Amino acid sequence: MASVRVALGDRGYSIKIGRGLLHSAGRELARVARSSRVAVISQRRVWRLWGERLAASLDQAGLMWSAHLVPDGESAKTLGRVRSLYAEMAAVGIDRSSLIAGFGGGAVGDLAGFVAATWLRGVDFAQIPTTLLAQVDASVGGKTGVNLPAGKNLVGAFWQPRVVLIDSGTLATLPARDYRSGLAEVIKYGIILDAQFYDWMKNEREALVAQDSSAVGVAVRRSCELKADVVRADEREAGLRALLNYGHTIGHAVEAAGGYCRTRHGEAVAIGMVLEARLAVMLGLISQAVAEDIRQTVAAFGLPVEVPRLFDADVMVAATGLDKKSKGGRLHCVLPVSIGRAETRAGVTPEMIRRVITESQANAGQR
Ligand code: GLY
Repeated sequence: MASVRVALGDRGYSIKIGRGLLHSAGRELARVARSSRVAVISQRRVWRLWGERLAASLDQAGLMWSAHLVPDGESAKTLGRVRSLYAEMAAVGIDRSSLIAGFGGGAVGDLAGFVAATWLRGVDFAQIPTTLLAQVDASVGGKTGVNLPAGKNLVGAFWQPRVVLIDSGTLATLPARDYRSGLAEVIKYGIILDAQFYDWMKNEREALVAQDSSAVGVAVRRSCELKADVVRADEREAGLRALLNYGHTIGHAVEAAGGYCRTRHGEAVAIGMVLEARLAVMLGLISQAVAEDIRQTVAAFGLPVEVPRLFDADVMVAATGLDKKSKGGRLHCVLPVSIGRAETRAGVTPEMIRRVITESQANAGQR
């Protein structure tokens, strides 16, 4: 089992990574819990596939647990769902010494974390992510929240877990499309923070695409190490942490234009990374060759790299303006300055965004 520490003083915690870790999840939770009472918030599909294994390990550790199931995916991240979970927490007697665990993909982790952050003004929380995207990104760093009709993640809290338990064996039941979607965030870490890791991914492409367990283990661990370093240095996103938003300004616009159902989050980020690399070329930050390398690498992992022709460019440009990274009317965008290094830059205009989108849609038609 590998362990990565998120060094945040008395709120610090370990990310434990191992194949088959669910078998000892109960013991790991008992180690950090202040009482034996645990509420597990999970998704129906995840619970059907892996619930029995987690339940057995909670029983074995002598924990008194209850399971609270929500629908799969982003549709669970609503204030209405939070409200009904509060009612369930009250009904089963979750008190200040209890622990709430999120068990599933990024959406359930965000939702469970928000419930934990706000129930009784905050109770202990643990993340047990089962998708690659949640294992390498969403479960680490304490961002929790829900969506509003006006936008994604508009209501939330920073609430760090007491432990993150990653069983890479759970990826075996992840649909191939969701696995590839998670790889987009792994590629992102290489581009913005670690050129060596980026090259390693390119070399190990076949093993990673085939879900070779040792390659996946390295990818998950390195991603968690990189994210842990960023969160330690900038927990509240005053600067450095914003770099993790590379690919997300245009990525969110892709998600919005697709009505939040046509593309997976990672697919939208994949397109966003390619187009934001092209913005970096326009601003003279990287060469055309570097942007093309990024496009080819993203494509080699089976991810989309161009905006679908049918997506409405107007909706996309408008969506980038509404993005949380827009400060005082000027769009701040994370752009690569070389492979392994990125910066937040102000000079991107709506016209530039429109140009990369329409050029991308023309490319999409030609390929
Ligand atoms: N997913 C970006 C962050 O945690 O900051």
